[in-house]
Amino acid sequence: MTKRDKLALLGGNPTLKKSVSAYNTIGSEEKAAALRVMNSKNLSGFLGRAGDRFRGGPEVRAFEENFEKKFGVKHAISFNSATTALQAAVGALGIGPGDEVITTPMTMPATATAVLFNGAVPVFADINEKNYCLDPQSVAKKINSRTKAIFVVNLFGTPADYDALRLIAKRHNLKIIEDNAQAAGAKYKGRFAGTIGDIGVWSFNVHKIIQSGEGGMLTTNDDGYAYRAELIRNHGEAVVDDIWETKPEERELVAGSNFRLSELHAAIMGAQLAKLDDLIASRIHLAAYLTKKIKASGIKWLIPFELVKGAVSAHYLYPLRLQTKIIGLQRATIAKALAAEGFTLQEGYQKPLYLMPIFQAKRIFPRTQFPFISREFPHPNLDYKPGLCPVAERLYGEELVMSKLCQPPHTTQHIDAFMEAIKKISANAGELKKWETAQKIANP
Ligand SMILES: Cc1ncc(COP(=O)(O)O)c(C=O)c1O
Repeated sequence: MTKRDKLALLGGNPTLKKSVSAYNTIGSEEKAAALRVMNSKNLSGFLGRAGDRFRGGPEVRAFEENFEKKFGVKHAISFNSATTALQAAVGALGIGPGDEVITTPMTMPATATAVLFNGAVPVFADINEKNYCLDPQSVAKKINSRTKAIFVVNLFGTPADYDALRLIAKRHNLKIIEDNAQAAGAKYKGRFAGTIGDIGVWSFNVHKIIQSGEGGMLTTNDDGYAYRAELIRNHGEAVVDDIWETKPEERELVAGSNFRLSELHAAIMGAQLAKLDDLIASRIHLAAYLTKKIKASGIKWLIPFELVKGAVSAHYLYPLRLQTKIIGLQRATIAKALAAEGFTLQEGYQKPLYLMPIFQAKRIFPRTQFPFISREFPHPNLDYKPGLCPVAERLYGEELVMSKLCQPPHTTQHIDAFMEAIKKISANAGELKKWETAQKIANP
């Protein structure tokens, strides 16, 4: 079997189709929007040079304008994914070789690779076990003279502790980038998450609350960052050369790419954006119901997440902590028992990023360890050892499970049934323990 065949097998998820259709909000509005673009025969309005088409076609621009209005932000610049928007965000801030960016190890790898692709290095701070976002105290300990930014991730749709993180950023003159990929519609003290820091990034991939299959957005109130982000999005090196009246010393030196959104995706996203408020309202309703039920149940081994003061989550997923020592069962046993009752939970989320091969080997390019180690920037204290972020490791390895119960088409009846299953597990913990032990004997 070739390595590629193996990848396909490993990646095969028999439940994927089911889970996508389970909360697919694509309807007649999106179909009409797609048809409008098909009829126009203009599937992309971009040209990679200065001029009117540098900023894309009518659907892209309309979507960006609506996004700006909706989220009260000066610039919304669309991308073909959050991954590319994250790369552009780091580049737009002028972060590069020799710089460090502090972020959480419990995020999608794209947060950290965006830093690496710009020649800077990610430094990992631990997370808070209550809201799964960066722990400001741990962040403060990681700052040194090379630190340029804090990469805040609003994990599972839940806003991080912005006030504390902004205070640290202000004190040390650091930028704040928000990876808001999972948190469209979340709020912190009345402001939309994703619009609070220097640059925010949003994802519209197929799993997200609003989606067009693939897509992303970068938001900022800063004209300079917006200018650089647009250059990075669309072959900026040629564009700068095209602006003949710009003096050489004023020219932005940037190697751009093609990170552009198509007209089709933008049109679909326009229709999705109009649905966001209703989608968030139903998620908030279901999540509040689940939290209330867990607290009322008196079950001590199941811990709901907690929001920081002033935060409203978008409830991308509902994270739960299993206190395995209290119930005396391993997480896998509880997950199996719940699956038998019809509730599939994802265990652990993402392996803390620093434990992944590229960080262990400190290598992403052939023949060099740049940017982790180089003659100019040795990063002598760069630490990706196991044990670096104990809370993230414990949650990943032992305690964290994620549920989709707050996503449509679930209802409060599903949540009631889930709580019945939880009670059944509590009542049968002894029997389950015997099963767990027997499994261990059979499969040591
Ligand atoms: C936290 C986070 N950051 C970044 C991304 C990357 O998003 P995209 O798939 O749009 O590139 C994701 C997507 O899953 C994510 O969850």
